Amino acid sequence: MHHSRNSPTGTQPRYLASTAVLLVEVIKLSASLVLATYHTYTTHPSSSPSGIAGHLYRSIFARDSWKLIVPAALYTLQNSLVYTAISNLDAVTFQVTYQLKILTTVLFSIVLLRRNISLRQWLGLISLTFGVALVQVSGQNTPDDDNDWKERLVALLWGKDAAATPSSSAFKGLMAVVAASLISGLTCVYFEKLVKDSMASVSLWTRNVQLSFFSLFPALFIGVLWQDGAAISQHGFFAGYNSTVWATICLQALGGLIVAVCIAYADNVVKNFAASLSIVVSYTATAFIYKTPVTLPSTLGALVVILATYLYKTPRSVPTMGLLPVHSV
Ligand code: C5P
Repeated sequence: MHHSRNSPTGTQPRYLASTAVLLVEVIKLSASLVLATYHTYTTHPSSSPSGIAGHLYRSIFARDSWKLIVPAALYTLQNSLVYTAISNLDAVTFQVTYQLKILTTVLFSIVLLRRNISLRQWLGLISLTFGVALVQVSGQNTPDDDNDWKERLVALLWGKDAAATPSSSAFKGLMAVVAASLISGLTCVYFEKLVKDSMASVSLWTRNVQLSFFSLFPALFIGVLWQDGAAISQHGFFAGYNSTVWATICLQALGGLIVAVCIAYADNVVKNFAASLSIVVSYTATAFIYKTPVTLPSTLGALVVILATYLYKTPRSVPTMGLLPVHSV
């Protein structure tokens, strides 16, 4: 994402984040519609195609579908804030700060889902945040990026935005990522409660169709038309698009669908753990691919992340609100 926002586009202006946010929703809506249709077909195998279409229509526009308006608006805002953050911060600072969502998710889970978190799990969560920060601060030194981990740590602690573009504003980026973390925690927990409360009657993919459908309105009317309408009429909707931008859009859409599955079949806290483990994996892969030296802090960070996962998931005490037994996660 950071690369797509900062890579040169020749004579064209940089692509507009609002257009990308809208396209991501269009892709997720199409994919969710296909999956919801398939799910309706498997639950009503003897129905005709028009019967299946009828079932699908009634479940998507059911009476309680308005409940998705809130998460749709919040996720659209979160996705726009993520673009603002990644455009104004270097990728590492962004990822470290975005780990705040681990803690905001837990806090909202306790308040809204009345989930119990044991002392051992708190320890796991705090170590996770610490471990990810260590990996991030010390890692990802690609050949064109010669900052060492001490510089990164200093830049992070003192707010110096070492690797961002000259035109970027680190403070704006930081505010955006903090707001995105808060919204992430709240919205994911709201969506989890909604999906799990009605999973027996409404499929996950129907919920996702509703979510993406309602997301189209703020993405189109507020983002594309109101915020960027003038720029789009001057340069066109696809100005600045290249293969990197399309790859970013596809990854965002796929990531969103995977997040939905994680929330529905595991839970939000587990989703954040999985995402954190992936940071360790991507750090290790980067070290192998770019042949960068593995630093002590990054190795320590990876170990702490693994230990944190062990602490959180060892079934000494079990979260009380999980609909699925822990062993099925
Ligand atoms: O970073 P975080 O885990 O909060 O990411 C949430 C992302 O997943 C958002 O981009 C949101 O649009 C997407 N999502 C989705 N479908 C869901 C839940 C989240 O596309 N059911």
